Amino acid sequence: MPIKDLHVKAFDEGTIVKLELFEEYAKQWLPTFIMSEHKEVWIFDFFAGTGYDIAGTAGSSIRILRQIKNQIGNIFQRKIKINVFFNEYDDYKFEELVISCNRFLEENKDVARAINVIFRKCDFNDLFHKCLSTINQYPSLVYLDQNGIKFIADKFILELEKTNKTDFLYYISSSYFWRFGSTKAFKNVIDIDMEKVKQNPYKYIHVAILNHLKCKLPNESALSLYPFTIKKQSGMYGVIFGAKHKRAVDKFLKTVWDMNKLNGAANFDIDDDNTKLQLDLFDGKKFNKIETFAIKLREKVLSGNLKTNEEIYNFALDEGHICQHASQVIKDMKKEGLIYYCEKSPLINYDQIYKNRRIIEFKLIR
Ligand SMILES: C[S@@+](CC[C@H](N)C(=O)[O-])C[C@H]1O[C@@H](n2cnc3c(N)ncnc32)[C@H](O)[C@@H]1O
Repeated sequence: MPIKDLHVKAFDEGTIVKLELFEEYAKQWLPTFIMSEHKEVWIFDFFAGTGYDIAGTAGSSIRILRQIKNQIGNIFQRKIKINVFFNEYDDYKFEELVISCNRFLEENKDVARAINVIFRKCDFNDLFHKCLSTINQYPSLVYLDQNGIKFIADKFILELEKTNKTDFLYYISSSYFWRFGSTKAFKNVIDIDMEKVKQNPYKYIHVAILNHLKCKLPNESALSLYPFTIKKQSGMYGVIFGAKHKRAVDKFLKTVWDMNKLNGAANFDIDDDNTKLQLDLFDGKKFNKIETFAIKLREKVLSGNLKTNEEIYNFALDEGHICQHASQVIKDMKKEGLIYYCEKSPLINYDQIYKNRRIIEFKLIR
């Protein structure tokens, strides 16, 4: 399998998108746990790289430290123990990683005092199982920024599935599957039906891998998986986000919809939504992702399948949409005289539903 060394040159545009997603998610994740009842949390960056690329752009490790710095006041106030675990197996990169992180900690002594940093120079293959009990025991944010694809195999992802307070972000070089997915080496990682996958355009290869992984989860699994496809000059890559908690999913979806307001699922117009804005003279109007969701949600409400803010919120998350999209549909339906609710807003958000337990029913006006 081809392996590419990222640090001998500057990060490309797609890599920066990935790193921004990693960092933005850390920014969302940290305050949730710092302000919670938990006393100890862990962040694992299993493929940590060197800290910076050759042009001085921060990699995953420094971005994690930066976001911890961002929360420093709350961390001291709440007295939460934050453990940050950096692993990199390459000798040279490991040395660079330690130098970069220690320099950051030297320059940010408050961060150094607030956290416990652990460096490891191990092969992930040997390390992962040793870390599982910690991942299982504490709220953990796990970054798996591998080169290639091999660590997406069942023996890793199904172990993460068994943990309950873990949010993970997996990076995969998805287009390798397009080229080599039918070979034995790839089949050993994921036995994906490439003939079926190739019935869809190449740009959906990352989504196809995600769908394959979803099918491998146990039937009763509470784990939600979401894709973010990253198109680069060299091919299709992507992040797979996984978490069991709704608040985590909510935060991930907010992050990706902020990054791409058109589809919240890629760093480009993956579904050609921009072209759907114009009326198609032959086929009639084509609906973009947000409009398609609105139509689906309206039907579900009008048919009585979805009645409460809680049901609608869960439907939005399952469909990969943020709660604002669902709220807009419900507000429009109220304005159109299709439904009734007495509150000022439809209360379709995590805090109202799961923190305050304010459950409301939307009544159909016949
Ligand atoms: C995609 S890069 C990660 C980049 C890093 N997260 C950053 O932001 O700079 C993958 C890194 O994982 C390391 N790596 C590859 N295979 C590994 C393994 N089996 N165990 C540990 N590290 C590995 C590589 O040396 C490389 O630095």
